[in-house]
Amino acid sequence: MRRKLAAGNWKMNGLGTAQDELRAIAATPTRQTDLLICPPSTLLERAAIVASDTPLEIGGQDCHANPTGAHTGDISAEMLADCGASYVILGHSERRTDHNESNAQVAAKTLAAWTSGLTAVVCLGESLKERQSGQTLDVITAQLAGSLPDGATGENTVVAYEPIWAIGTGLVPEIAQIDEVHTILRAELVKRFGVMTGDAIRLLYGGSVKPDNAAEIFAVPNVDGALVGGASLKSHDFKAIIDAL
Ligand code: G3H
Repeated sequence: MRRKLAAGNWKMNGLGTAQDELRAIAATPTRQTDLLICPPSTLLERAAIVASDTPLEIGGQDCHANPTGAHTGDISAEMLADCGASYVILGHSERRTDHNESNAQVAAKTLAAWTSGLTAVVCLGESLKERQSGQTLDVITAQLAGSLPDGATGENTVVAYEPIWAIGTGLVPEIAQIDEVHTILRAELVKRFGVMTGDAIRLLYGGSVKPDNAAEIFAVPNVDGALVGGASLKSHDFKAIIDAL
């Protein structure tokens, strides 16, 4: 049975004072739910100290495909692991858009993450134009195929479906639309990696998840948790989402 995962992506938010929110999140009773916060890299080491001896895991928001080298401003998977991270978000739509990241680059980063012992949270999702023109399923299956290297397992990989038009907008797909995409993603994972592995890889939904819509989204059979942006910045809201799991 897949464990639930409540993952927070703090994006480019958070100064040292955010450790108070982290402490509150780390103290959340979780039962069968895994907890993850991906702060900006400037907070990683401090976050790892707060999270030590708690159920809270810490992750990066991106990594370079190479372990070292002349890549100004970048951070390697090994560096994330060295800071205490155990996960890394890869292929977020903001990276794909702002930094022109391709599926092939996301796959290369995923391999780098695995090599350093990190679990990759590989993101995919359609734009509003793609949704409106009926391309959603083609887009997400192509992103899944191109962004996941061979060798994915339930331990080293999580897939996050994030419709771009739902991120930070307050718009959320209909439950039937989330169900349709997650059902297809599950089928594609099983087809490519076999039943055991395909069933073990967790599928998160992301895009305007809030305390008041979380329970309904989490009731969808192939939704194994959420990748939460804005609502993960406030421990009160994130705890309410964790409770809904
Ligand atoms: O990684 C998180 C997503 O981009 C969702 O962000 O919850 O602010 O819509 P949001």
